[in-house]
Amino acid sequence: MATDIKRIAVFTSGGDAPGMNAAIRAVVRNATFRDLHIYGIMRGYDGMIKGDLTRLESKDVGNIIHRGGTILKTARSKEFMTIEGRKKAFDSLRAHDIDACIAIGGNGTFTGADIFSKEHDIPFIGIPGTIDNDLAGTDNTIGFDTAINTAIEAVDKIRDTADSHNRLFFVEVMGRNSGFIALNTGIGSGAGSILIPERQGNVEELINHLKKGAARKKLFSLVIVAEGNPGGGAMKIAEEVQEKFDHYDTKVAIIGHLQRGGSPTAADRVLSSRLGFGAVDALLEGKKNVMVGVVNNQVSFTPFEEAIKTPKDPEKELLRMAEILAL
Ligand code: F6P
Repeated sequence: MATDIKRIAVFTSGGDAPGMNAAIRAVVRNATFRDLHIYGIMRGYDGMIKGDLTRLESKDVGNIIHRGGTILKTARSKEFMTIEGRKKAFDSLRAHDIDACIAIGGNGTFTGADIFSKEHDIPFIGIPGTIDNDLAGTDNTIGFDTAINTAIEAVDKIRDTADSHNRLFFVEVMGRNSGFIALNTGIGSGAGSILIPERQGNVEELINHLKKGAARKKLFSLVIVAEGNPGGGAMKIAEEVQEKFDHYDTKVAIIGHLQRGGSPTAADRVLSSRLGFGAVDALLEGKKNVMVGVVNNQVSFTPFEEAIKTPKDPEKELLRMAEILAL
């Protein structure tokens, strides 16, 4: 389907994720190739409301493919959550003659885009950019691969000191509602136990597992805890375990925002490039209000509502596998 789209805007919103810059680059370069005028909106929906837009040329996105963060900055906008805020945003897009938008972000970003698209007539395409990997309609989100590589590198270092001191380490990784980072970090770092938001584990179960390890003379142990674990974060779980099972000297490490920064991995750069490129193509094909993803190595499209609401749980069978492999 041919469209009248001539001017498009791109922005990043919510938590930043390594690879967002590579996606911006792909959007700008493909849009330029297609003779579109492309604008960058600064600081996500906040900048949209304030009309903070800058024209982007091909040269503006040179030398950013390898950089973490986002050159367009990002924010979590409270004002955009109000109907008045969204009206201001729409008026400001119209004032700049913007025909369509490309939103790079996660769950909150697409929830906003979904509501906006029902209130105002302007096509949106979403690019999944969040380290959490919690969106349906794509195998991986931008930044997830980099985040787990960063977390695994950190856990490898903790492993050295845990081993030297015969300690039990609780390592907290990000993931407020989602256990993908914890599960994959746990498997990749060979951790003994993994606690994720999607599974209601309990401390007794964990202690039994640790006891099994101790019985076979395991001298140290690593437990990966997702920040959104229902029983509490690493600090709380460590205290509870220490009270009931003091076989090991117990320590806690919270990796935190380290996971959000750094140069994107090769996988994230390639994914970001494919998604950015695909988003521009999609707009020109007349698609709207969908998220572009890569599923089974094929570019695919999912309506915002489905991408946000369809549960995307980590494979629980993998938790069992991780525990067996760690015994
Ligand atoms: O959504 C990405 C994420 O990194 C979550 O894993 C984490 O809970 C949250 O963002 C932290 O957000 P903020 O940087 O605003 O504290």
